Amino acid sequence: MMEIPGPGFASVLSGWRQAPGPLVDALAAAIRHAVVDGRIPVGTRLPSERSLAATLQVSRGTVVTALATLRDTGWLRTRHGSGSTVQLPPAVTDRTAPWSVDHGDGLDLTRAVPAAPHTAYLEATRRAVRRSPTLLVDAAEPDAGLPQLRDLLADRYTRDGLPTRPDQILVTSGARAALTLLVDHLHDRSRPILVENPTYQGALSILRRRRARLAVVPVSCDGWDAARLALTVQAARPALAYLTPDFHNPTGALMPAEPRTTVARLAARHDMTVIVDETLRDLDLRVPAEPVPHLAGPGIIAIGSTSKLVWGGLRVGWLRADASRIRELQLNPLQARLSPPPLEQLIAGELLSDPSELLRERRDRLRAQRDHLAALLDGAGDWSFTLPPGGLCLWLRLHDVDATTLAARAAARGVKLSAGTAFSADRTLTHYLRMPFTGTPETLTRAVEALA
Ligand SMILES: Cc1ncc(COP(=O)(O)O)c(C=O)c1O
Repeated sequence: MMEIPGPGFASVLSGWRQAPGPLVDALAAAIRHAVVDGRIPVGTRLPSERSLAATLQVSRGTVVTALATLRDTGWLRTRHGSGSTVQLPPAVTDRTAPWSVDHGDGLDLTRAVPAAPHTAYLEATRRAVRRSPTLLVDAAEPDAGLPQLRDLLADRYTRDGLPTRPDQILVTSGARAALTLLVDHLHDRSRPILVENPTYQGALSILRRRRARLAVVPVSCDGWDAARLALTVQAARPALAYLTPDFHNPTGALMPAEPRTTVARLAARHDMTVIVDETLRDLDLRVPAEPVPHLAGPGIIAIGSTSKLVWGGLRVGWLRADASRIRELQLNPLQARLSPPPLEQLIAGELLSDPSELLRERRDRLRAQRDHLAALLDGAGDWSFTLPPGGLCLWLRLHDVDATTLAARAAARGVKLSAGTAFSADRTLTHYLRMPFTGTPETLTRAVEALA
């Protein structure tokens, strides 16, 4: 077991006395912060109370009370005769939203991100470390991805109804990395890029950085208009399109079969490469979840990621394309920089080899939170929304106030939210607000109270 000797503690907690308020609270908070930012690793045994009191120059009573507070809130485990060991409380590890979202005075709902599955992730990391010695005997220069991960991903697509060979997979450090690489490789400045309006703001910022001209096609909670899509493609002649048919961010809409066929036909007929973002594909909240056909065909490239099923900190994503396209992309100088380290790939492989439990857990919690948020919002203000079949957010249409004003008022009450314009390709959608349901029911209740 790890130990920090008594004198070492003074430097680990340096400055703790300057915090306002009683010494006991300051000491407990300083230990908690040191655990959270890694200065005191989880599993460390604390020095004895007597030694801590001497090192920190406080009374033994102050130390005893501070440690009792930490014990009561789950930060310490004490076994008689063997001292106190640092741990993370269940309130921190067993969460649906990352701790940082609700960590201080306010709530940050501008990011729709689920927390890591704590135990499953740590176990997968241990298994991955045990597998890693064989990696070390190889050069492990960035490549298209570890063979075992490419096999696994190809197999996943194949079982999902889209026959795929491992040489059709390129592993990247997330879906945004895949999009960045593809746009760098395929963007033709003389032609616009087709995007949905609204769309994922991370994609918009990648496209805007390239100063791409955008042609927009509207999407609402009711979905896509296939005829409008065809007209836009015929009029604007985009060479590239970026679409999110599977539980679209931010509306949560799922593209039905007809517009999928239309997109595939348009791609073939108009020589348009379509990047289909499947990052949210696993977040099907219907009961039971139903098979979703991949939007596939000539010129269609899928991108995916572990960030929503597992964790945004696991920077592993991928793209699926023709093998010849994958070989071309490997020659792009950006590819090596956008490739994840081998250990991350092993961890992803461990988690994706049998994701059924992760999937069940994530879907059940998100569904309960979506329904909780919907029940809270229903009739609580002058807005309307449609319950989405999947994804992470409700897309709220406001009737008599613009979203920027409402978001500013909510921020003044400690709740940060994103107004619709953040997801708009043409700076419209001023009367929409995105409400993620990634938080716990208590968090969501607080958020709606602030809004209403
Ligand atoms: C549609 C969509 N694509 C991609 C991402 C980000 O993926 P990654 O973290 O793998 O880059 C998100 C995150 O919210 C998203 O909603």
